[in-house]
Amino acid sequence: MSDTASATISTAPVMKFSHLGLVVNDLPKMERFYTGVLGFVLTDKGATGIGATMAFMTLDPDEHHQIFLVDGRPDEALPTSTIIPGSSAVLHHLSFRLGGLGDLRAMYDRLTNESDRPIKTATHGICWTMYTSDPEGNELEFFADSPWYCDQPFMKPMDFRIPEDELYNQTEEIVRMAPGFRPYADFHRDLDKQVPRDFPGAT
Ligand SMILES: [Fe+2]
Repeated sequence: MSDTASATISTAPVMKFSHLGLVVNDLPKMERFYTGVLGFVLTDKGATGIGATMAFMTLDPDEHHQIFLVDGRPDEALPTSTIIPGSSAVLHHLSFRLGGLGDLRAMYDRLTNESDRPIKTATHGICWTMYTSDPEGNELEFFADSPWYCDQPFMKPMDFRIPEDELYNQTEEIVRMAPGFRPYADFHRDLDKQVPRDFPGAT
């Protein structure tokens, strides 16, 4: 191997995750969900030369698009995971961070009002989380950070309909007993040594 090739392999790339593309069956319906329910802003939309419509949308003013929808998903049911019943064969979930537990509970109400698709609510210790799906069955996660860390994977079902302080206290009690429990700030200090905080290309 040449010196240049080994340097390329051993040096971590300078990049940030930007967006995800989904092939969809009913583009107008999916666009309505991602913009109307989740609040994405449509930045562009148009057809390609071969007739595929593409919609670009974002929640981040620094990203032209974070979600990209393109039609062409087959009508028939797609294969599922070989291990997790009902889970998708490829895209496990798309995840969205909310500002806090109150915002997450507001999103729970919003999703409940929008459809009767099931919502699973839980804690991963490091966050409160809920799992549901978009109108075409792509799994979605919404979460809010907690001030704690515990070893992952960790998941305990929680009832999001109880008063917020009760939910907070119940969660803390559970997480404090979990393997690897420590304040999240401690975990973050260690992570900062491995993942640089500043993106060198940022303006
Ligand atoms: Fe996740």
